[in-house]
Amino acid sequence: MIETSNIKVTKAATSKLPQIDFDNLPFGKTFSDHMLTADYADGEWKNFEILPFGDIGLSPAISALHYGQSFFEGLKAYRHADGQISVFRPDQNAARFNKSAERMCMPTLPEDLFIEGILALVNVDKDWVPSKENYTLYIRPFMFATDPFLGVAPSTTYKFMVLLGPTGPYFSKNLRVKIETEYTRAAEGGFGYAKAAGNYGGSLLPAKKAAQQGFDQLIWTDAKSHEYIEEMGAANAMFVIDGKLVTPSTRDTILDGITRKSIIELAKGFGMEVEERRISVKELLEAIANGTCTDAFGAGTAATIAQVAEIEHEGKTYTLPNPAESVFANKMRKALDDIKFGRVEDVKGWNY
Ligand code: COI
Repeated sequence: MIETSNIKVTKAATSKLPQIDFDNLPFGKTFSDHMLTADYADGEWKNFEILPFGDIGLSPAISALHYGQSFFEGLKAYRHADGQISVFRPDQNAARFNKSAERMCMPTLPEDLFIEGILALVNVDKDWVPSKENYTLYIRPFMFATDPFLGVAPSTTYKFMVLLGPTGPYFSKNLRVKIETEYTRAAEGGFGYAKAAGNYGGSLLPAKKAAQQGFDQLIWTDAKSHEYIEEMGAANAMFVIDGKLVTPSTRDTILDGITRKSIIELAKGFGMEVEERRISVKELLEAIANGTCTDAFGAGTAATIAQVAEIEHEGKTYTLPNPAESVFANKMRKALDDIKFGRVEDVKGWNY
């Protein structure tokens, strides 16, 4: 473990806090006073530093810009009623960070450096963790290649950075989603399981087209047949069918979501049967039509549990039961929030 004291801290001369409207915090637009940076060179990580949030100077030739050696993580800090602040399962993000790094041919970062760097930054900006119900401090760690070199080759230098931003709920309503059968998010053998920047860049055009048709999100299907459900927007897709929690099993096209795995663990603890397996579009639509699918939601750090009201497939609309009355999604959202906001004993040790 590195100590906070091993990270050089340069405080901002003034805080932006008084200018922030904590009642109006759209996701990803507001950043705290400080950020963390570290450099990788000569085979090692160095220069861990917390400094005022601001622009950074970079060569226009850095390979991250040209060939996409870049990926990120997402996690959150929560303020408890007694004022304590916790970060939810950063060990899981640290492990996934390194899976992304390996797939993108980038250096891994020792998990303790990842966790301690984040905790030190959150500690410096602890006043930025909102106290309003359902509001949190979003934490965005990321790494990118910094060699000023246009050859298609792994960079030899990288930057690790962490940004913080207070945020309200990512979605403000239940979702109307479309099953995407033309575009693909990820293919077998690809890097869909990594939080690579390009996975998100490639999703923008299909998402924009869906938005133009009046949809809030897409349900991605497999690249080969478009017959199987993969993910929902930038979140994992989860359903309750016949009283069982059903979700696509993780594989190289699917992100190993931390909200997803937390929900699975809690659901099993409730005594519920959980099936991680392939789910066909046909099975899902039939289950909605015959009333056996009672819940459909996206699960992610930013989205938390984003419930679906309607699913469209080939011009036909399938309506889910009223999300406000859903037993599972609402019970699960409460169970997760109770742990994250310290309202119940953290028996699993998920809060740092
Ligand atoms: C997250 O939930 O942290 C995500 O990765 C979604 C983000 C792209 C908004």
